[in-house]
Parts: sequence; structure tokens; C-alpha cells
Amino acid sequence: MSETGGLIVEDLNVRYGPAQALFGVSLSAGGGRVLAVLGANGAGKSTLGRAVSGLIPVTSGRVCFDGKDVTGWAPHRVRRAGLTYIPEGRGVFPGLSVLENLRMAVGQLDGRTARQDAITRAVDLFPVLGRREHQRAGSLSGGEQQMLAMARALAVKPRLIVADEMSLGLAPIMVNAVFDGLGKARDEGITIVLIEQFVHRALAFADDCIVLSRGVVGWSGPAKDAGQEVLDRYLGEATAAVAEVG
Ligand SMILES: Nc1ncnc2c1ncn2[C@@H]1O[C@H](COP(=O)(O)OP(=O)(O)OP(=O)(O)O)[C@@H](O)[C@H]1O
Ligand SMILES: [Mg+2]
Repeated sequence: MSETGGLIVEDLNVRYGPAQALFGVSLSAGGGRVLAVLGANGAGKSTLGRAVSGLIPVTSGRVCFDGKDVTGWAPHRVRRAGLTYIPEGRGVFPGLSVLENLRMAVGQLDGRTARQDAITRAVDLFPVLGRREHQRAGSLSGGEQQMLAMARALAVKPRLIVADEMSLGLAPIMVNAVFDGLGKARDEGITIVLIEQFVHRALAFADDCIVLSRGVVGWSGPAKDAGQEVLDRYLGEATAAVAEVG
């Protein structure tokens, strides 16, 4: 496993006040690989994504990214180190224009030229955004907003992205566009932690998989080995429902 851009989580416990959401979660995502994180609603997938990104504190355990122990780091520091979380829902500022959204995303880069190059790069990846530069992000279609969220993430050349249910609520053609965008990220060697509801699509795209069940890792292994038996056991009806759509 390449350490560059890789993520290792060891024995992670996370609580929200008195309620514990993750119990001793361990996983690794090799540099440049795609790890699918599956699990029913409330299993702890977003909690895991937020915890590794520094957005919520961990109770105990360790998060190592790119060979560094980033446990307890502030979110902007984790992001600067190259780990970007694309949140559940639309990870954009609806009241700002497309361009303003991109400008905010690249604000961490030093130098005007670097920031401009990053925006150009993002728009090259998702040309639809160039045509809508001055449109309010909130008035973009759901799929276009996800393109913008991905563009914001990829503009700063991260080494790992955590994509949290990016295809939720999108029309099938837009789900394809989301996976195309993720494919571009993968082709650039970016490690991807893919939280997805379209289980079969996620597994087809991923190298490895973990299944969370009530805050515990129920199963982990190569994505190709996550057979129907595993999915039925941990995801039950959810899998059946999405299998038809996905
Ligand atoms: N801010 C919060 N405060 C208290 N409890 C929370 C908070 N966020 C999540 N939880 C609880 O933690 C558990 C895990 O939630 P989480 O959002 O991580 O699940 P998930 O797997 O992402 O679910 P979904 O598929 O519905 O997005 C749930 O029981 C949830 O109710
Ligand atoms: Mg979630």
C-alpha cells in the first residue's frame, strides 16, 4: 500500500454527547485507491467522514493521513494537508455565485496566480460551471451543485477526498456525471473514500469496501468480494431497493 495520500484509522470511537456513534472503527484506504463505505441509515458513515476530516472531535483512537497522525487537527489544517471532505447534501454556498464558491474554495492557496490556476483547473474539469460562473449556486440543478462541490474539492489538488452520498436524490444521468467526476479524481491518483447509497455502483467503482453497522465495522474486504450475502446481512431492504435503481 502506498502511504502517499493513504488513510489509516485505528480503533476510532466517536460520541455525540452521551450517544456513541462509532465503536472501535479501524480501516485503511491505500494511496490512490477507492474505499467504499457502505451501511444503512444511521450506521455512522457521515460521522466517520466528519471525524477523519477533523470536523468533529474523536473520543479516542487515531487517524493517520499521508503518513502523519492528524488526530485532533483542526479541519482547515487537515484540508491543507490534502484531505477534503465533500459533505452530505450540497457542499456549496447557495447564496454565492459559482465563481465566488470556487474563489472561497481556493482561498487557502498562496498567491493570486495559484488561486486563478486552481479555478481554471476546476472549470476545465467541469465545463458546465464555466457557462454558469455568475449564476447563484442555489439556482443550479442538484447535479450541477454536486459538480460544483466536486470542483471546489478538486481545485486545491487534494490527495484524498471523502465523498459523502454525492448521488443522493439525483436523476440517473446526474448520478453518471457524479461518477464521471469521481473517475477523473481517481485517474489523477487521488484516494477516494466513497460513501454511497448506490451500493452496486459504489462496489463496481471501488477497490475495497467496509460495511458499517450501528457504528461498528461489520465487514471489510475487497469490493469484488462484497457479495449479496454481505449486503443482505448488513443493508437488508436498503440494498434491494437501490439494486433496482442502481
Ligand atoms: N450532530 C449529531 N448529534 C447527535 N447525534 C448525531 C449527530 N449526527 C449524527 N448523530 C447520530 O449518530 C449516528 C450516526 O449518524 P450518521 O449521520 O453518521 O449516519 P449515516 O450512516 O451517515 O446515515 P445516513 O445514511 O442516514 O446519512 C446516528 O444514530 C445519528 O442519529
Ligand atoms: Mg450520512
